[in-house]
Amino acid sequence: MSDRKKVTIRTLFGKAKKGDPISWLTCYDYPTASFQEQAGIDMILVGDSLGMTMLGYDSTLPVTMDDMIRHTQAVRRGAPTAFLVGDMPYMSYQASTETAILSAGRFMAEASCDAIKLEGGSEIASRVAGIRAAGIPVVGHLGLTPQSVAALGGFRVQGRGAHQAKQIIDDAKAIEEAGAFAILLEMVPDRVCKIITERAKDCLILSLGSGPHAHGQLLIYHDMFGLYPDFTPRMAKVFGNAGEIILNGLQEYVSEVTDKTFPQRENWFTMKDEEYDDLMELMD
Ligand code: KIV
Repeated sequence: MSDRKKVTIRTLFGKAKKGDPISWLTCYDYPTASFQEQAGIDMILVGDSLGMTMLGYDSTLPVTMDDMIRHTQAVRRGAPTAFLVGDMPYMSYQASTETAILSAGRFMAEASCDAIKLEGGSEIASRVAGIRAAGIPVVGHLGLTPQSVAALGGFRVQGRGAHQAKQIIDDAKAIEEAGAFAILLEMVPDRVCKIITERAKDCLILSLGSGPHAHGQLLIYHDMFGLYPDFTPRMAKVFGNAGEIILNGLQEYVSEVTDKTFPQRENWFTMKDEEYDDLMELMD
């Protein structure tokens, strides 16, 4: 258990003011959250990417609020001081501002997050404003927004053309003005991210594959440790291949059980001879 003080919005703005980049990672379970807490991560995102990384769906769309709450509660237990952001799942905020406020409120109350995140630009500014007015801190998400991946034409960089880049810059302003205290830019060109970061007045800009000019960086935990078997996106740096270590260990286990080299004496429990003798008598 770490003895650091709780990371708050104030802590995060304090880092940005000093020019110290904010570290942010996704996380979906208790043991990983404990490791991230020990490593001193500033922020944790329980992303609806858990639909793919943990539940094996081929998109984030089937993830429900119940899924999100269950995983976020586990992460909070493992990381009591990290700034915890809960990702609003598909259709928990799109239909109306009222739905958005109720979903965000449930997330905060049941999962103890510090903020919620939702995807989209000016079209969801009213949702951001409503949630903010209910006293809930909001993180926006622009660029590649996985819940709209079909409309965006797949998992690809957003804003490479001038017109689309301008749209993302305008959307960032709209979301900031609606009350978001932070915006994640996913797979946006570095120079577009730089413009948005420089223009942000009271808003932290965080980058996922959008370059070094933001106030902080996000990575998907499974990508950085080779834990997602289907693919690793180009922007992800692999910091260690845990997936390979686990696979090797599993293959070794199967072969040791098969050739009877596992278990060894230290891997099982025994009873005293006299207890065993008594047992035999009882059995007779
Ligand atoms: O769900 C998630 O993990 C996300 C990231 C892709 C930013 O929203």
